[in-house]
Parts: sequence; C-alpha cells; structure tokens
Amino acid sequence: MSNSAIATEIGKRRTFAIISHPDAGKTTITEKVLLHGHKIQQAGTVKGRGSSHHAKSDWMEMEKERGISVTTSVMQFPYNECLVNLLDTPGHEDFSEDTYRTLTAVDSCLMVIDAAKGVEDRTRKLMEVTRLRDTPIVTFMNKLDRDIRDPMELLDEVESELNMMCAPISWPIGCGKSFKGVYHLHRDETILYQTGHGHTIQEVRIIKGIDNPELDDAVGSDLAAQLRDELELVQGASNEFDLELFLSGELTPVFFGTALGNFGVDHMLDGLTEWAPAPQPREADVRTIEASEEKFSGFVFKIQANMDPKHRDRIAFMRVVSGKYTQGMKMKHVRIGKTVSISDAVTFMAGDRERAEEAFAGDIIGLHNHGTIQIGDTFTQNEDLKFTGIPNFAPEMFRRIRLKDPLKQKQLLKGLVQLSEEGAVQVFRPLDSNDLIVGAVGVLQFEVVVARLKSEYNVEAIYEPINVATARWVYCNDAKKMDEFQRKCSTNLALDGGDNLTYIAPTMVNLSLSMERYPDVEFAKTREH
Ligand code: G4P
Repeated sequence: MSNSAIATEIGKRRTFAIISHPDAGKTTITEKVLLHGHKIQQAGTVKGRGSSHHAKSDWMEMEKERGISVTTSVMQFPYNECLVNLLDTPGHEDFSEDTYRTLTAVDSCLMVIDAAKGVEDRTRKLMEVTRLRDTPIVTFMNKLDRDIRDPMELLDEVESELNMMCAPISWPIGCGKSFKGVYHLHRDETILYQTGHGHTIQEVRIIKGIDNPELDDAVGSDLAAQLRDELELVQGASNEFDLELFLSGELTPVFFGTALGNFGVDHMLDGLTEWAPAPQPREADVRTIEASEEKFSGFVFKIQANMDPKHRDRIAFMRVVSGKYTQGMKMKHVRIGKTVSISDAVTFMAGDRERAEEAFAGDIIGLHNHGTIQIGDTFTQNEDLKFTGIPNFAPEMFRRIRLKDPLKQKQLLKGLVQLSEEGAVQVFRPLDSNDLIVGAVGVLQFEVVVARLKSEYNVEAIYEPINVATARWVYCNDAKKMDEFQRKCSTNLALDGGDNLTYIAPTMVNLSLSMERYPDVEFAKTREH
C-alpha cells in the first residue's frame, strides 16, 4: 500500500464515543447509528437489553453481561465517505474508570442529552474528562417525541453548566405528541417526522425553504409561525457554527431528534462525519506523533478480562496512533523493552470478533494479553517513546477489603495490585494501618473484584463501607515542606498499587482544608501511568 493510500485510509476515520447520563438514550442511539451504518438490518440487536439494567447479579450473569458489552466495545461502520469507529463507554452499573479512559482514546464525542431533563450529573463528570484534551463535542437532544423542556433553555443550560457555546444545526417543531420534525438551519429545509418508523431507515418528506407555504400545511400554521419566530430568536441569540471553535472544544453543534423514533440521528451523523476530526496527533514523552507517520504506534487504554467464560482470556484494547497494523507484524512493547510478533489481534465488527488483517491510525485493535500488558503501555516500531495522557482518575467510591482467611494476605495484595494494573479498581494501603482500601468510580467494580479474587486468586474476601470521600495523588517539589506534610498528615496518607503517595480524605471539607493548609503540595485528581 502506498503512502498516499494509507493517508487516505487514515483521513477517512472518525473515532468517537458517546457521553451521556444513564437512560438518556445511549444504547438506543447506538442501535440507530449502526442501522444507518448498514451494519445491522433491523436496529435493536446491539445488546441484550434485559441484562443491561439489572442492578445486582451473580458472577456468571456478570460475565455474560461483560461478554455482551465487550463484543460491542468497538463498532466500526462506513458512513458517507467515512469509516466510523464508535467506542462504547460502560454506562450503568458497569460504569468504571474504563469509561473515563475510553474518552482519552477518541478524537471526538457525541453528547446525548435527555431533552426532558437537560444536563445531568454523569454528563457533567464525563465532560470534565473530555476537557483534558479539549475534545470536540457534537450534541444530540434526545426524546423529542416526549414533552421536553424549552429548547432555548436547554441550550442555555449547556452553555452555562458545561461552559460551551451552542450552535443549533437543527431546530425542533413541536414536541411530544405534536412533534412534527426539525428545521435544518444549514440546509434550509424542514424534515418531517413520522411515527412508527423507529426500526427502519425511513423515507422522509422534506420541505425546502422556511417561507414555503407547504410548511404551514404540513405542520399547521400555528407551529409554522412559532418555528419562524423561534428561528429569528435563535439566529439572534445563539452562535453560528464555527469549525475552529468546534475543533478546540469551545463550541458544540446541536441536533434535535428522537433516537427511539430514529429521527435526527442521520443529521447528527452527517455533521459528525463532516466536521469531527480525522485521527489526531498524540503527545508522547519525547515528541508529538502524527497519525500520518509511516511507522506504527499505539497505546493501551483498557484491559478487559474474562470476556469469554470459556476461554478466560484478557484483551488489551489499543488505539492505533500512527501508521498501519498488519497481521504478523513485529512491534516493540516499550515498557518491557521486548519486541513481539502480533498475529492474532482482533477487531470488533458489529458484535463479532474478527481477525484484524490490517488496521490504521484511529482504529482500535484488541491484543490477547496474558498479564504482560498494562494500561497506558505504548507499542511502536522500535522507537522508544511513551504516550502521555492516559491517566488514572481519582476514585469516587471506597471500600475496605477484608479477608475471610487472614493467612491469605499476600495473595490478596497480589490480586489487588494486579487488578489495579488492569484498571478495574485502585488499591490503597494506608501508611499507618494494615487496611486495604479499594477505590473505584463505579459501584459494580467492588463486586467484580471480590468475584475475581475468588475465581482467579483463590482468595475469599468481603468488602465493607469505609469513611473515605475521595483520594488525591500528592506531590511537592520542596522536600522540607513535603516532609512536614507527611508527618502532620500521616493518618491520611496511603500508597497506591504503584507505590505512589496518596492523600485519603474522609470528607471533601477535610480535603479543601488540607489543600489550604499546604499550598505547596499538589493534590492531583489524575495520575499518569
Ligand atoms: P442508556 O443506554 O443511555 O441508558 O439509555 P437507553 O438507550 O437504554 O434508553 C433508556 C430508555 O429511554 C429506554 O426505555 C429507551 O427505550 C428510552 N428512549 C431512548 N430514546 C428515546 C426516545 O427518543 N424517545 C423515547 N420516548 N424514549 C427513548 P426503557 O423503557 O428504560 O427501556 P426499554 O424497555 O424500552 O428498552
């Protein structure tokens, strides 16, 4: 393949993930996006819905669930002239640090908002993560077939709460029972909504021009008049789309529609494929790596264990940063300094695991992992560099892990450290006690840890509540000040799985007081591997 052919392949790629609050419609929109990508004929087969909503389940169920969510971890499909990679972000009970780190492996994000509810908690949190790289965001206001909040108010909320300008690309005509469709501001056309076509790609009726009298006939003169009034207001009060501001993460194009009714999803996809960036350069410790570079490079952002209960294999998900992967190629696993020949990388096409014969910058490949690969690991063609920006995130929930059989302390520690290297949880050992504290960002992780300790390390453990609100990695350039801080705060200090010093705060107030008291100490919310 010539260099220009490789450049064409890379230029076609759009790699994105969805950020949303649970129940806003991520799964539904994923189904419709795939339907438009022609990968599945009838939307509705992305994942076993029944199993995705249960709160607590036994281990087998959990595995089954994880198995299912893994096959949909990465979905690749063609759309317009592009090849789109959609990375799944675990959302409900399986929400975890993986969700955060997946956001460091994409070039853009789709933010799905339930238009009846507006900006919700989880979305706020995920947006914070996208800020680390100023990732461009496309917005979809969902559930227009229900009674929603005033659209202008929704835009204001995004602007004020997420600190991002909004540029509406489409504008809704009515909502709920009287939802008639949207007016596309860039195309100057009204696209009419029909109910009952959620599972197919529908033939839509389009009315050209905002002043076309056909519009009044189609949506009723009241709604047509309201639309014209609102558009005047919108054009006066909101922002025009600006590609540069979008690419720097300062402005989001906004689309309205209903995922369930499969309406508006294609407008969003048209915008995303046209404007979202092709694979972006990535920073490494020694230099910036361009996607178009000839030599292959990539980094691991997620490790998934126990994907297939029969094989118990682990897969390391790697984002290809530059060049091209071909089956059987040799790559250097930089952290351990070894060159390995990779002949069995996998891709995940619409639910099937297939052998990847080639993959390009922007794609995700899965490497079989027998414990040597860690999150954040870099693979190259013989160059010594390490990609940055794939951090650990401070956990938000904590539990104390206790052994049923106290003689297994060593195995317990080993298991926890390995699980933390995999990114499932983080482990903290307080300096002045023998407690083992496990931290996670999603509550299901504690169950997963206890179940995996038992099945993989033969350790029976239980977890119990502990009075910890948050953790911060602490650094200080001034050795004397650090010394004093360590002496005075020893009861709050712990070592994480990689022996990094961490401040364990019983309350958020305690944390702010300590931050005030020790201004020279940095309390970091993320830590680079
Ligand atoms: P999530 O992955 O973000 O958690 O959301 P999901 O797609 O599972 O959607 C959550 C609920 O919202 C589902 O209903 C889904 O059918 C519904 N939903 C999604 N998009 C729309 C929409 O455009 N309009 C309306 N009215 N509803 C929508 P559920 O009853 O919880 O699940 P199900 O039994 O329908 O699968």
